[in-house]
Amino acid sequence: MSRLSRRDLLCSGLALSTSSLIARSAWARTAALFSRDPGAAGPDAALDAAKAIAPREQLLLDFGWKFTFGHGSDPARDLGFGKNLEDFAKTADFKFAQVGYDDSKWRALSLPHDWAVELPFVRDEALQSHGYKPLGRRYPETSVGWYRKEFEIPASDAGRRVNLEFDGAFRDVLVFVNGCCLGRNEAGYTPFCYDITDFLAVGAKNCVVVRVDASYGNGWFYEGAGIYRHVWLTKTDALHLGRWESAVRPADFGIDSVLEFLETQVLNEGTREETITVSWDIVDPSGKAVVSAESKSKKIAPSETAGFFATATIPNPAWWWVEKPNLYTAVITVKSGGTVRDAERITFGIRAARFDADHGFFLNGLPLKIQGTCNHQDHAGVGAALPDRLQAFRIAVLQQMGCNAIRTSHNMPTPELVEACDRMGMMMMCETRQMSSSPEGMAQLETMIKRYRNSPSIILWSIGNEEWRLQNEMAEEGAKIAAAMVRRCHELDPTRVVSAAVNGDNKKGVSEALDIVGFNYNLKLPDEYHKQHPTRPVFGSETASTISQRGVYQTDPLRNTLSAYDVNHTEWSELAEEWWTFYATREWLAGGFAWTGFDYRGEPTPYGWPSVNSNFGIVDMCGFPKDNFFYYKAWWTQQPVLHLFPHWTWEGREGDEIPVWAHSNLDEVELLLNGKSLGRQKVPRLGHVEWKVRYEPGTITAHGWKDGKLLLTEERATTGPAVALKLGADRAEIDADGEDIAILTVSAVDDQGRAVPTADMLVDFKVSGVGALIGVGNGDPNCPESDKEPHRSLFNGLAQVIVQATKSPGTIEIEAEVNVRHMHIASARIAIATRKAEPRPAA
Ligand code: GAL
Repeated sequence: MSRLSRRDLLCSGLALSTSSLIARSAWARTAALFSRDPGAAGPDAALDAAKAIAPREQLLLDFGWKFTFGHGSDPARDLGFGKNLEDFAKTADFKFAQVGYDDSKWRALSLPHDWAVELPFVRDEALQSHGYKPLGRRYPETSVGWYRKEFEIPASDAGRRVNLEFDGAFRDVLVFVNGCCLGRNEAGYTPFCYDITDFLAVGAKNCVVVRVDASYGNGWFYEGAGIYRHVWLTKTDALHLGRWESAVRPADFGIDSVLEFLETQVLNEGTREETITVSWDIVDPSGKAVVSAESKSKKIAPSETAGFFATATIPNPAWWWVEKPNLYTAVITVKSGGTVRDAERITFGIRAARFDADHGFFLNGLPLKIQGTCNHQDHAGVGAALPDRLQAFRIAVLQQMGCNAIRTSHNMPTPELVEACDRMGMMMMCETRQMSSSPEGMAQLETMIKRYRNSPSIILWSIGNEEWRLQNEMAEEGAKIAAAMVRRCHELDPTRVVSAAVNGDNKKGVSEALDIVGFNYNLKLPDEYHKQHPTRPVFGSETASTISQRGVYQTDPLRNTLSAYDVNHTEWSELAEEWWTFYATREWLAGGFAWTGFDYRGEPTPYGWPSVNSNFGIVDMCGFPKDNFFYYKAWWTQQPVLHLFPHWTWEGREGDEIPVWAHSNLDEVELLLNGKSLGRQKVPRLGHVEWKVRYEPGTITAHGWKDGKLLLTEERATTGPAVALKLGADRAEIDADGEDIAILTVSAVDDQGRAVPTADMLVDFKVSGVGALIGVGNGDPNCPESDKEPHRSLFNGLAQVIVQATKSPGTIEIEAEVNVRHMHIASARIAIATRKAEPRPAA
């Protein structure tokens, strides 16, 4: 494969440049065909990117596991592992790693699983950044977990290759099959795979055992512990496609067509020479086959691998847009002597992403400001072990405020997140964990690129975050390390630019090697940089770090509270209004990624105990919006926005002056207190309006005016005490597939049915029927209550409950009640229907 220079990437006729090839008016016409519907999802047909097709089988290995804690320092409490210092010398010595071991005392569970979120919080300042969970070398009792599962390999599998694939586990993993140690993986966020064919008993039961040691962390944020992503058993013919070797990428854009370059690799692990052809069948977003291509035939000797190539012209392509994420599918088939020996299906999109030094970012030839957020991967209730559906839920929350891109800080994401972005039209800056050209660092990077290079959502690769020494004291080494990584990215994927998240002036070190330059914070630096480097595209790789708590309107260091007005940031960061005004008003800036979309566990800046979560989120740990959400919504969407805050229930504060703000993109907002006007104000572009109002119970009302017309009205009324609970769900019906979830919102209402914004009582939950509670949360960063027990306090009026379906169709009933003495609050009930669904093929 030819190597491309930075100039080529930025200006060539490949995916990154389109404007020279396609007249602007043609692009505009295509764009106009699509309505602006930020929540639109792509067709389900294209959802199945990773799913295998016959004669390949991909079985989910998530169900029926057993789990027990081991020990980080005492072999006697670690199933004897490490006792005689000879554990790797003799094969199949460990009885517990073999079929037939009595694991009845181990706990039964399903994957994905994060045991860190199940642990109690421990007040130990050394644990602060990881969210006060007892993990690490000083907590050996809770830092090592053993997983065990027996599974059948039918006699019909004789002659097939069987691979055991992990999408990711945290963190130091040892894998045994039938007692034989297969290997180790320490990456934490990167998938890994073992060909277990030789270790399997065919026509019999087999056993996999995994030791996960979370004694060491990777980051300065919550990372979870355990097998927190899916595990698969993949079965193929001995003649099969290479793992993640299939790539579809644009070679040339025409006015009415796209020429796609198709490549893959085939491995012959059989005993005979084979003569092979590979074919590609391309299916358009509506499910219609549009074009096929076939490679030249080739001979492959046993134990050899061969590359196969073809091109295909796709007529009248349906472009992948943020508003209309059209997805194509390529079915890749390996044939020998007319027999299909292997096949897989990959999803791709047709789109051109280009960064321009003068005009910012372009998608399909049209300018598009990146309205991004950085996000860690954990969620309330479930920690790092997210059911797939939660990925789509989180993306939809971000899209509601107009976020069009996420940065997977600071690690390779899980496949379901990337698939959700592909399907829902969320762009992505995809980041590897380790900035290093060491074999481990390069392996992580290569895995990420090969795994995801067909995903249209990914518009740039990131080789890492804030490696200060490689930017400064070790700048020379930094430039070399980054250059090696960037080179490898280009080799594996000549269609995308490469950057990094750099906290500094970007003048030396790592930055020298990057295709485009990312600034973390430091709003004083980009202007000067742009003047001195007018040909280098620039974006905000990390911005904001504004700190706030949902529904809190006073900053009080004694109580660890932070107000939700846009007034607090750390010493290195910015307010929402500051950073977005800066980026929005400079055409040459491609946009940026705010730290962070969602709150996450750990890094409870600026406080310590009992703050266990971050305060950086624009939405809280559950996805409930903080007030800044509406600042972004006002300036990131075209919808008319009028958001009035705070609430108006301030018993005991009568006569106090209370700041009242409105986030709005209308021309003017008028505020009224109990019907009396307190004045009408012009909304400054990219700003907000505010008043000081002496509190008296009643109602504050905001009228929003656009072009002289009253367009929106918002009210906040003083509520009475809570008299009843209320339960709502994101969906009334979910799939009975053992994986799907419903996400419930718990609130409290007064006697007029109005949500009580200050309600904070403890609520108990009962879940019955064909489902189970898998987590609870309330978005309060100062709440060390359990995420797993069936109760949770409301935090400023809200809590979240996540329930998961079994594989039996029926109804899940959820009841919420308050069992606090002297509190008389009516309970609430909701039923979620679970419809018959085909569970994914599982082993
Ligand atoms: C950045 C860092 C993030 C997070 C953030 C908090 O410097 O990249 O991971 O720590 O600060 O403001």
